[in-house]
Order: sequence, then structure tokens, then C-alpha cells
Amino acid sequence: MCGIVAYLGKREAYPIIIKGLERLEYRGYDSTGVALLNGDLNVYKKKGKVSELRATLNEESLIGNIGIGHTRWATHGEPNDTNAHPHLSQSGNLAMIHNGIIENYDSIKTDLLKKGYEFTSETDSEIFINFIEDIHKNNDVDLCEAVRLALNKVVGAYAIAIISKDEPDLLIAARKGSPLVVGLGKDEFFLASDATPIIEYTNEVVYLEDQEIAIIKGNHLTIKSIEDVELTPYIQTVDMQLEAIEKGGYEHFMLKEIFEQPKSIGDCLRGRLKAKDGRLVLGGIHDYVNKILNADRILIIGCGTSWHAGLVAEYIFEEFCRIPVEVEYASEFRYRNPVVGEKDVVIAISQSGETADTLAAIDLAKSKGATILGICNVVGSSIPRATHAGSYTHAGPEIGVASTKAFTAQISVLIMMALMIAEKKGSISNSLYRQLLVDLESIPDKAAKALDLNPQIEYISELFKDSANFLYLGRGYNFPVALEGALKLKEISYIHAEGYPAAEMKHGPIALIDESMPVVFIATKDSSYEKIVSNIQEVKARKGRVIAIVSEGDTEVSKMAEFTIEVPATHEALMPLISVIPLQLLSYHIAVLRGCNVDQPRNLAKSVTVE
Ligand code: G6P
Repeated sequence: MCGIVAYLGKREAYPIIIKGLERLEYRGYDSTGVALLNGDLNVYKKKGKVSELRATLNEESLIGNIGIGHTRWATHGEPNDTNAHPHLSQSGNLAMIHNGIIENYDSIKTDLLKKGYEFTSETDSEIFINFIEDIHKNNDVDLCEAVRLALNKVVGAYAIAIISKDEPDLLIAARKGSPLVVGLGKDEFFLASDATPIIEYTNEVVYLEDQEIAIIKGNHLTIKSIEDVELTPYIQTVDMQLEAIEKGGYEHFMLKEIFEQPKSIGDCLRGRLKAKDGRLVLGGIHDYVNKILNADRILIIGCGTSWHAGLVAEYIFEEFCRIPVEVEYASEFRYRNPVVGEKDVVIAISQSGETADTLAAIDLAKSKGATILGICNVVGSSIPRATHAGSYTHAGPEIGVASTKAFTAQISVLIMMALMIAEKKGSISNSLYRQLLVDLESIPDKAAKALDLNPQIEYISELFKDSANFLYLGRGYNFPVALEGALKLKEISYIHAEGYPAAEMKHGPIALIDESMPVVFIATKDSSYEKIVSNIQEVKARKGRVIAIVSEGDTEVSKMAEFTIEVPATHEALMPLISVIPLQLLSYHIAVLRGCNVDQPRNLAKSVTVE
């Protein structure tokens, strides 16, 4: 993970870099650092968030038209001032920021130690920059060539940016496995892990590909491969508005993103779904429909919340398409020699499009001949480029570390995909297909109604904020929602929570239930409703405190539950899009009431580009 930003041009670099780092903090916030060139090469770095570094600096005095900045999620070496980036080479002439992991750092370090190099930090990145300096010094090659030679020797992942005291108009960057975008201004250049630090200044960008080097010298950009072949930059226009990456009056990004769901689901459906005409088009996978229709099996891979969206899809695809589905954690799949064949279709789900385990699982499945489709939110990220085809979720930038609107957008795409296939296959009746399209089209309005529950949920949060544990129980389509509700609470409020299929409760978790255990049931009206009502009774009998998400107008559960939260009714297959909303709000309010940092929970990062 880690976020990187760099600037070279005529403006002051520091304000651009520090603002960019604030936008990239979702990628890590263990430490922050900036290096500026202004005759001297000065490095300012500190353990902690961007604001903590800023508080120690006299910002007006930081001048220089070229600089690099980094916000870190620690891998090698604990988060402290020394391990913070940028790292300087031994001579003090070169400074580097690095996002990724160098796997063969130990052997490089051994060689450098023999040559008399000393290291102050515990990071692989400090070894990396000294390795470059050593090649530069001893091989009589210029810095760009030294970087290229070094990149040919390192094993691992990197997005790097390097500046040199000797060449104040030179900025070198490269990527492999970690994202990097070059922004093209008028006589100025920006570099960042994603486009958010750049769009304020320019919407013209070049997404670097793996094993490419960007050399910015003065006002000229050259892109070459690490094999030394010069490449023509592919300039793209980023379609992202500044408002999309600002809080817009909300206290936290997470709350803004929860409240954006009527719009983000609507954006996801727009242009694809026309219920009136019975029309459903997912252009991105159009050419692969036959592959899916003839698939032996659909394998869904993802991590975290994306994996939960995959679980919802398993129920939907099997119900309507009658194609066997397996849902796998990408991190397990990639290392267990799975049986995958040419008639398998793999759907990889990822908000960021950069998750290292998901990317590796894609490579593995591809090498075994499977067809790979991606469902991603970040346009131009690595997963859409690694897959054969796919559909974007169009949820807009998600900045809060806990995923919310990305989840509902992923499910929206998966439902459209499943209905499109089911209709083509004839495994769904025309009337049900038509009805589901109408129901899907009404989801944004129903999501808006679910958000009206916010004051009630805030009230309930106040009563339960000091609980030490929570159980979340659901059945059928609402079982993955229970998992997602528990994950949200764990992530941001640090309360232990478990999601379980409600009927499995009696095989273990029931032992935990007493008068202090809040149990959140997702008990909307569906085919397992009567069964879950019995499960609620079992919890009540053991004095558990029941909070139930129910369908509007429900009278049965309200007799048993301490609190009922009534959400608008919809077809059970679409219910996760609605029933998850109160759970997102519950975790949000509990975390705020406990004084937790909602948008930047401890130890987590939004984009996990290391395994
Ligand atoms: C991290 C994030 C989660 C996310 C997971 C998968 O753990 O904190 O919110 O669900 O990664 O990320 P992806 O970008 O692949 O969906």
C-alpha cells in the first residue's frame, strides 16, 4: 500500500504534495514524509498522519519546485520517524519514495554492506535507493540508466519516484505491481498513486504500466520499458469531479459515502437497465456472454467486503442462472493449487482494482485457461487491465477505509450480470425477469428511504456503544449481509463482532448469548423468514438483546425484538442492497460515539497492494 505524490514544474511543490498526501491517506497513515529540492535536498518526515507532520513544520518556509511525498502503511519496519519515507541514499544526493515490497532486499543489502554502505532504517526501500546509487556511481551510467538497471535486478513490487540533488529538473518514476499515474499539466508534471491528487490541476494523465519508467526532464516526459524501449505515452482524460473526493459538508467520508448510495446505485444502473423495455445491457461483458452461458462453473474471487458481495452473487447466480458458483478468498485460492479449467469463468471483484491477492489469483486462473471478468470501481486500475473483460461499478471514489457504497454497487452489477445471463439462458421466467428489473430500478429510491432511518439508528447506537461483542445473524441472501455488518463494526469501532448464518448459531455462538450480548438479526420478509423468527426466539429465550432489521409493516418480529428497524420491502434477491444500509449506519455511529477515527481505522488501509 502507501500513497505517493510528486511534482515537478514552476509552482511551489510542497502545497501540492501535502494536499495530495491528504487525499491518499486512505492508502496508509502510519507515517508521512516529504522531500524538497531547492539547492539542498531536504527531507521532512514523521511517524503518524499527514496532519501530525504538518503540525511540526513551518510550511511557508518550505520552498522548491520539485519534490516527492509519501504516506506509509508499514510492511518492513515498524512505523517510526526513521522508517518513514522519503529515504535518502548514503551520499544524501538521491531521495526516493516507494510503495511496494522488494523481496530480494536481503541479498542486495548483504552486497551493499560489504561495500561499506550503512543503513539507518529497517526498510527495503532504503536498500533500494542505495542500490541505485551504487550502480550510478560504479558503472559510469546516468541516473536514469542506473534506475533501469536496478529495476532489472529487484524482485517484488514497486511504484517509486526519485529526485536528485545533482539534477534539479529531473524526476524519475517507475511501477510494477503498485499503481502510478502521471498528470500532464502545462510545463508541469504530477505523479501519484491515483488520480485524486492530480485532478485539481489537470485531467490529462498517463497510467504507467508494469515495468515502465517515466523520466521527466524539465518539461519533457519520456516513457520507456525496463528493457530500454521507448514507448509512446497513452494520454487519457480522467472523468472525476473534485466534489467527489471532498467531504461535502459531511463529518466523515464514510457517512458521505453511505448517504451517496441512492446516487451511486443509480449511477451503476444508468444506461444499463431500462425496466420498461425489459432491457439490460452490460456492454463490458457483451462479448463474453456465451462463455458464461457455457461455463461449467463460475468462480468468484475477492477480499474483504468484495468477497461478501461475491457471496451474495453466489445465491443470485445459482438461483436464477442455475450455474454452479464457488466463492473464494483470493488469498487462499492463489496458494492452494485449485482445479481450474478452460470452461470456468472467474469473476474478480475489487473496489480498488489493486488488491495484490486478487491480482495474483487472477494471474493463476488465467494461466489455467479460465475466462476472467472483473468488477471494479477504480477506472484504469490494475485488475481491469489484467482481466479479459468486465464491468465498472461507477460508484465514484470511495475514500473511507470501510467500504460501503462500493459494496452496493458491486452487488448491483452482479445482479445485472446474473439477470442478463438468466434471461439469455431461459433459466428465469419472463415475468420474474421483468419484475426484477422493475424492482432493481426502484432500489435507489428505497435506499434513500432506508437512509431516513439514520436518527433511529443513532439512538440505538448510543445504547449499545459500550458492548464488548456483537453477533450478526442472517439467512439466505441476508447471510452475507450479516458478515458485512459484523466486518463494518469490527473495522471502525474495534468491537469484536461475528457474522453467522442464523441457523448455525446453535452449533456454537449460542453459548455466547446472555443478557449483555446484542444480536443483530437481518430478518426481512423472504423465503427463510419463518425460520429466522424461530432463531430470534432462541436468542430471546437466552436473554440476548435483539436488534432486528425487518421489512416495513412487519408485526411478528417487533413483538420479540428490543428494537426493530423497518426497511422498505423488495424482492429477496435485491434485499442486501437495502438491508446493509442500517448496518453501515450502526457501525458508523457506534464508532463515532466511541471516539474512533472512522475514516482511518487503526492498522487498516483501503487498498492492500501487499499480500
Ligand atoms: C481492504 C479494505 C476493505 C476491502 C478489501 C478488498 O481490506 O479495507 O474495505 O474490502 O481491502 O479491497 P478491494 O479494493 O479489492 O475491494
